[in-house]
Amino acid sequence: MSDASKQLEGRIAIVTGGSRGIGKAIAHALSAAGARVVIASRKLETLSAVAQEISAATGNEVTPLECHAGKVESVTALYKTVMDTFGRVDILVNNAATNPIFGPALMCEEWAWDKIFEVNLKGAFFLCKAVSQDMLKRRAGCIVNLASTAGISPAAFLGVYSVSKAGVISMTKMLAREWGAAGVRVNAVAPGLIKTDFSKALWSNKAVYDTWVKDNPTGRIGTPEEVAAAVLFLCSDAAAYVNGEVIVVDGGGAL
Ligand SMILES: NC(=O)c1ccc[n+]([C@@H]2O[C@H](COP(=O)([O-])OP(=O)(O)OC[C@H]3O[C@@H](n4cnc5c(N)ncnc54)[C@H](OP(=O)(O)O)[C@@H]3O)[C@@H](O)[C@H]2O)c1
Repeated sequence: MSDASKQLEGRIAIVTGGSRGIGKAIAHALSAAGARVVIASRKLETLSAVAQEISAATGNEVTPLECHAGKVESVTALYKTVMDTFGRVDILVNNAATNPIFGPALMCEEWAWDKIFEVNLKGAFFLCKAVSQDMLKRRAGCIVNLASTAGISPAAFLGVYSVSKAGVISMTKMLAREWGAAGVRVNAVAPGLIKTDFSKALWSNKAVYDTWVKDNPTGRIGTPEEVAAAVLFLCSDAAAYVNGEVIVVDGGGAL
C-alpha cells in the first residue's frame, strides 16, 4: 500500500497567496504530502514566518518568494526564480485573489475592475503560461486554479468578482483542453463560504452568516483545510484522469 503522506514526495509546487487563509492551508497540505512548496505573495516578512511554521510542522522545505500576482513581470520573475532554484515546476496552485468592492455592480469603478481582473484572472493566466514552458516540455504537470461558487452563479454584492471567477473556470477548461494531450492537467476548486480574512465581512455579520448557513445542508461554513483537501486530491496521482474539472467545496450550499 502506498504511503499517502508521501504522495507528492520530491515534487516542486508553487502556491500563490500562500501567506494566509486557503493558500496557507493548501501549502501545508502539499508540504505534508512531501512536496517542496514555494509560497508567494506580496509581503515577504509574513511569508517567511509562514514558511518556517509549515516547514517545522511537516519537516519539508518551504520557500517564501515575494510576488505580485497581478503583475505579469512579477509572476514571470517568480517562475524564473523557481526554475533557477529547483529546475522544474510540477504543481501550480493559482490561489491569490482580491475583491476591493462589495455592493451592486454599478459601484464598480474602472480601477476596481482592473484590480480584480489583473489579480484574479490576468496574473493567473500568465503564471499558467510561464509554468507551461517547463510542464509542456516535460509533458507533465498539474495546475489548480481557485475559482468560487460565485463563478458558477454570481453572488450578491460580489458581481464583478463573480465575473472574474467565471473567467477562472473558463480559463481552466480552455487550458485543460489545450494542454491535456501534452500531459498537463488543469482543474479548479470552487469554494463556497470559507472562514478566512477574505470573507470576514460575510461570516462576522450574524445576519449574513445565519442566512448563509440556513440554506446550507451542513449548517455551517467551510474551513481552509477542507478546500486544501480537494486541491491535494487534484494535485495527486489519484486524479490522473481528472482534467478540466471544477470541484465545488461548499457543503452542498449550491444544491
Ligand atoms: N474565503 C472564501 O470564502 C472564498 C470563497 C470562494 C473562493 N475563495 C478563493 O480562495 C482563494 C483564497 O482566498 P482566501 O479566503 O484564503 O483569501 P485571503 O485570506 O484574503 O488570502 C489571500 C492571499 O492572497 C494573497 N494576495 C492577495 N492579493 C495578492 C496579490 N496582488 N499578489 C500576490 N498575492 C496576493 C494574500 O497575501 P498578501 O496580501 O500578503 O499579498 C494572501 O496570501 C481566492 O482565490 C479566493 O477568491 C475564497
